[in-house]
Amino acid sequence: MKIMQVTVQVGRAETASAEVLVLTHCEGEGLAKQDAALLDRALGGALRKLVQSKEFEGKANEVLLYHTQGTVPAKRLVLVGLGKKSEVTLETIRQAMGSAAKRVHQAKVESFAVVLPTVMPAGMSWVEVAQAMVEGAILGSYQFTVYRSEAASGQDVAGMKILILQKDQLRQVSEGVRRGVATAEATVFVRDLCNHPSNILTPTRVAKEAKTIAKAEGITIKILEQKEMERLGMGALLGVARGSQEPPKFIILEYNGAKKKDERPVVLVGKTITFDTGGISLKPAENMEHMKADMTGGAEVLASIRAAARLKLPLRLISILPVAENMPGGRAMKPGDIVKTLSGKTVEVQNTDAEGRLILADGLAYAMRYKPAALIDIATLTGACVVALGQFAIGMFGTDQALKEQVRKSGQKAGERVWEMPLWEEYFEQLKSDVADMRNIGGRGGGMITAALFLSKFVGDCPWVHLDIASTDWSERERAYIPKGPTAIGTRLLVQYLIDRSL
Ligand code: BES
Ligand code: MN
Ligand code: ZN
Repeated sequence: MKIMQVTVQVGRAETASAEVLVLTHCEGEGLAKQDAALLDRALGGALRKLVQSKEFEGKANEVLLYHTQGTVPAKRLVLVGLGKKSEVTLETIRQAMGSAAKRVHQAKVESFAVVLPTVMPAGMSWVEVAQAMVEGAILGSYQFTVYRSEAASGQDVAGMKILILQKDQLRQVSEGVRRGVATAEATVFVRDLCNHPSNILTPTRVAKEAKTIAKAEGITIKILEQKEMERLGMGALLGVARGSQEPPKFIILEYNGAKKKDERPVVLVGKTITFDTGGISLKPAENMEHMKADMTGGAEVLASIRAAARLKLPLRLISILPVAENMPGGRAMKPGDIVKTLSGKTVEVQNTDAEGRLILADGLAYAMRYKPAALIDIATLTGACVVALGQFAIGMFGTDQALKEQVRKSGQKAGERVWEMPLWEEYFEQLKSDVADMRNIGGRGGGMITAALFLSKFVGDCPWVHLDIASTDWSERERAYIPKGPTAIGTRLLVQYLIDRSL
């Protein structure tokens, strides 16, 4: 999908020329004096009639298309609701723009203009409002059509013009656009990678994507092959990869935009299982195809470093992707096998389907070499996370209060919210093994917690946060700016965290 071109212009609704002009409206409000009233006069009172007759009430995500018949330069209007004015948040705006962009796409129109809303959510500025608008518009019109031989249903919406009333809004709105384009294109990239099936997106292909990005953005890259992993002693990652014909990869990317070049870095580690069959502890067939997206975490840390480079953020960032395919081949790990991790700790693999924590154990141990200022891992780690949190919250664990608070805030801003779970040592009882330092499953109860606690044994006393995105990773239905299927949720949270951290 080509990313929409977004521009900002000083202009008024009643004089703007556009194929479609999008106008937001709050439920129960009159027509906003400055913009809508003059437009309404030009339209002969049509807007007021639509609102008074309740044909358009302004409920959140309500959409109405109206042909202006030559009364104003804009050929059509798309009215979109924001709900009650007092309840408008960045998320409301993001969703409204997603709904509007979908309607524009249905109208088979290539570009549209949109009037900057006049409501400002508490504590925000035009930067955040514009960013949310761009995110909603780009992500709401997302399509994945690579494998369809018939022409896709309609063109991508190619352009969006944000109309501002006052020139002094230009700086903030333009900065918001810059950020919104960066977070949205990162999300699109992740959705694309997740949508590609595992016969295409193999570990080797992930490495190729990473190389392409590194080259294009001037990011340093190092890819460890199997031989080097053996030399280093990454027994956990190698163990997971054993059952597959696809060779594993260990990818390290470094972007350094810091003023002090030897600044302690932020390190992101993403679970990158290009397909999770479960291995010898084979998964049931139902919904197994979702496991092509078991590489979401890795795609997100890759997209995040690309976004940081494109935004030229003043920080040092390292992204690490342990990459493998989890298959039940003739040489596959078997329940009871013991692997030695990079950290030196041994693990009894009682269930080969708990592979994410194994590859992350080596990923996190490797990350420790950089003495991170902050270490964040992100993973589609446990089915238990789906059971506990449903579709709307990411599971968060961590060892550092300040880091958890920053991640929580950035998630709130991004509309990708986290919910903290306990990382209490009591649960380690469930991870004890009779024959090794620990086992890779925690038995009945607290599955999301024991997985996180397992990871914690590989991060020392580094400020660390673990995000379990198994809950939010796959949407069962289409939403305003989230498609059915892979959501890439977590991407904007990470990029937002990096932005907020470098402000
Ligand atoms: N990739 C899965 C977790 C998952 C499940 C992600 C559903 C998204 C949706 C992970 O590797 C896994 O299989 N976890 C096991 C762990 C268990 C064997 C302790 C699980 O949750 O069933
Ligand atoms: Mn698994
Ligand atoms: Zn998995």
